[in-house]
Order: sequence, then structure tokens, then C-alpha cells
Amino acid sequence: MKLPDAARFSTICIHAGQEPDPSTGAIITPIYQTSTYVQEELGRHKGYEYARTQNPTRFALEQNIAAIENGKAGFAFASGMAAIGAVATLLQAGDHVVVTDNTYGGTFRLFDKVLTRYRIEFSYVDTSEPEQIDQAIRPNTKLLFVETPTNPVMRLTDLRRAAEIAHARGVRMVVDNTFASPYVQRPLDMGADLVVHSTTKYLNGHSDSIGGIVVAVRDDDIEWLRFVQNSEGAILSPMDSWLVLRGTKTLAVRMAQHNRNGLAIAEYLAGHPKVKTVLYPGLPSHPQHELAKRQMNGFGGMLSFDVGNMDGARRVLNRVRLMALAESLGGVETLIGHPASMTHASVPPERRAAIGLTDSLIRISVGIEDKDDLIADLKQALD
Ligand SMILES: Cc1ncc(COP(=O)(O)O)c(C=O)c1O
Repeated sequence: MKLPDAARFSTICIHAGQEPDPSTGAIITPIYQTSTYVQEELGRHKGYEYARTQNPTRFALEQNIAAIENGKAGFAFASGMAAIGAVATLLQAGDHVVVTDNTYGGTFRLFDKVLTRYRIEFSYVDTSEPEQIDQAIRPNTKLLFVETPTNPVMRLTDLRRAAEIAHARGVRMVVDNTFASPYVQRPLDMGADLVVHSTTKYLNGHSDSIGGIVVAVRDDDIEWLRFVQNSEGAILSPMDSWLVLRGTKTLAVRMAQHNRNGLAIAEYLAGHPKVKTVLYPGLPSHPQHELAKRQMNGFGGMLSFDVGNMDGARRVLNRVRLMALAESLGGVETLIGHPASMTHASVPPERRAAIGLTDSLIRISVGIEDKDDLIADLKQALD
């Protein structure tokens, strides 16, 4: 079995990093649930010494996702936050980072409450405005950390433009690609130096594992991240690595359906008299719809909408039956949530207001059920 050099996306998802198991020929990489490996004699082993450092199931996943993101190497961690924490070890005291102002709340918490203790500085700017990136960069800026689309207000950053600005000033660009998934956009192809994911979301896709990954292209980053992954030890377990590998095999078909359902639900909501606004890059009313068409392959499964007041939002959230009221996103089942009190509760109210996150905003992670069932559920909840 050999993956052709010109293999396309869905073929890469299924086959990259997936060699038949050398001891049995098993087509699926086994869960190597072991802590250590027996050595043949002193100084002679099969390349595996201790499972924090080397594990075949984790390696298979890391190679798989590195290929999916068109990177050179991947490093899997125990959560998305652990992956972002590993990227942060590229920084030293006195360094500065420019961050998308509307980044995931947990990322903001890590930067604002933990990393500032190590004398690392952060500027939060609207990266959808390239000039704001340029203006925020200082002589000590080392990283530009971008999320696009942002959660939950769905603002986009022009990745090619952002990478140009960063590179012209000697800054590396990191993209958290969790929200879009590599089916929808591949930031490394647009100039990013590093991509991070919470594999908990679309890459695993089945809401049954917590994990994270960093994909790198530069040799110095790869060497450092390998060292840090082993030194800090926040590795992804063999069982979780296996679950995510199982998930990535169907990434292309799942994402195609997420894209179709996302657009169908967004269009339905946009036409509903009780809905004031719908935030979805696939709608022509989205201020960056043209950028979305250029940069994204479909528009993803995430959208937000506003019924204008908290009572109305509460009624919708409490009346849906098929959609589950829950945090998280990217699974096959549709989840609905209230960002202001759930995923973004740790973001101060004035910051929420500044990024347009109203108290009555509802977010949906549109799953891959039949779209008519999802629309019927929303219809009965709204009516
Ligand atoms: C965009 C984004 N990045 C990172 C994370 C953190 O991932 P994890 O929950 O796997 O630590 C999340 C979690 O919701 C997320 O939405």
C-alpha cells in the first residue's frame, strides 16, 4: 500500500500514516497500550524505548494529521489547550504576541492568567483588519496567533495577507484551525508557520475524546516541539490517538455534510421573521463573504444567530428537542449553546460587548443529521 505523491484530500485522510501493522498486517493501527518496550540486548531496540517518547498509535495519528494539514510533522497532546501551551514554549520572557481579539476563551485564559506571569505580553486586536495586525507588531513580537472564523461571531482573517504582514516583520504566524477544520481551509498553504487544533472537535468528530495537535513545517520548530512534547509529557494517549485516527478517515465526508447542513440552517434562520441576525460566512449578508469564498472550501458547520432578547434566546435553547444544549462543537450530532453564559463566560462582559457577542446570541454546531429534521426542530422551538 503506497500513498501516491499526488493523492487528494480524502485519500490522504484515509491512508496517510496508515501502514499495515508490521507484526500482523492488521489494516488498522492497533492501540499500543503499553508503557515500555523490551530491548533485544543492551543498546539494541526497535526504535521504541518508553511510551511517553514513542508510541506507534500516536505516531500514526501525528503523521496522518501532518499530511492532512500539508505540514511536515505533527505532535499530539492531551488536549487542545495542551497543544497551545506547547506552542507557547516557543516564547521567552520579554516576548510579545499579537492575538485575534475574539480568540477561544480558554486560550485567552491561558495567555492572560498564566503566561503573563512569565513576562510574556499579549495584544488583542481585530485581525480581520490587516492594518490592526501591522500596527500591533513591536520589535519584540514573536508570534501572531489567529483564529478564523472566530467563535462565535464568525469574523474572518485573511490568512494570506496576515502571513505576509507577519513575515515582513519577522513574526511567525500560528493558526488555531479547530473551528474550520483542514477540509475547509489549510492555513499552512496560505503562509502559516504552525497550525494547532483541538482534535476534540472536527478531527475526531464523534464527541468521545479530548485531544490536541500542533502541525509544523520549520525544522527548528519541529525539533523544539518534539523536545517539549517529551519534556513536558502532555501526550495524547494511545486510545485517544486511535479514536482520532478513526475520526480523520471520515473527515472529508463528514465536513461535506457539515458544510451542506450549515448553509441550509443559516438560510432557514435568515428567512425566519423572529431572527434578527445570522452570522455565517456562507451567507451573502456576511461582511466577508467574498473572502470566505476565496479562502474556504465551503463555509463549515458553525453559525450563530440572535433573536434580539434574552427571553427569546432562553425559550429557543430550552425548547429544542433534537439539538442538544451542550458546550463543544464539531461532532456528528448538532449542539446548541449560549456563548455568553457557557463557552465565553470567562470573557469579561465589556470584552464580549466589544467583539459583538451579545447576551442573546445563540451558537449552533450543526451536525450531520438530516437537515430537514434540524430545521423542523428549530422551527418548533422558534414558533
Ligand atoms: C478554537 C478552539 N481552540 C482550542 C480549544 C481547546 O481545546 P480542548 O478543549 O481540546 O483543550 C477549543 C475548545 O473548545 C476551541 O474551540
